[in-house]
Amino acid sequence: MEAAFPSALAAPDPALAAHAARVTDLAARLAAWLAWDDASLYAIYVGGPLHDIGKAAVSEAILRKPGPLDSRELAEIRTHPAAGAKLIGRLGPARDALPFVLYHHERWDGGGYPTGRRGPDIPEGARILAVADAFDAMTSARPYRGPLPVECALREIERCAGTQFDPAMAHAFLEAWDAGALEPVTAWTTLRVSRARA
Ligand SMILES: [Fe+2]
Repeated sequence: MEAAFPSALAAPDPALAAHAARVTDLAARLAAWLAWDDASLYAIYVGGPLHDIGKAAVSEAILRKPGPLDSRELAEIRTHPAAGAKLIGRLGPARDALPFVLYHHERWDGGGYPTGRRGPDIPEGARILAVADAFDAMTSARPYRGPLPVECALREIERCAGTQFDPAMAHAFLEAWDAGALEPVTAWTTLRVSRARA
């Protein structure tokens, strides 16, 4: 499957663009809370906005389906990290985005995709993005459900610490949220146009 990169840049889905901006903002502020160095923070600002660019290779019908995906549709949507990595590989300056694009759906316990990497073998940037991505997905409306309350999303992050998420990242997220360090501050992060499947 050949992804339509130029058209994805020319006409990005506003829902996906807003999701990517919120996730980037959350991940960057969590990284700042964890006192990451400037180079690591810079990488989040490159990789965060592009992490789902591979969805340009997934059909609109699947991205917007108002209901659960069947196994074929699930398999197609799971191509997006590798499709995105292929696109990013063509762009020299954007290569810092590769770990975010390729590994943001890996799980700490090895049950993620596309590679099944586990634990610290998953790049740190992808581990921080995974928590921010899940939080935003849960608290945003989807074609098949409304947004979950923030409290539910926080409980789910706690429940999945050490299975889906790097436990250190998950616990840092909860602490930073409690301290008020992750509340939305920009127009982008409060924009709620999300109707697509993130
Ligand atoms: Fe994704």
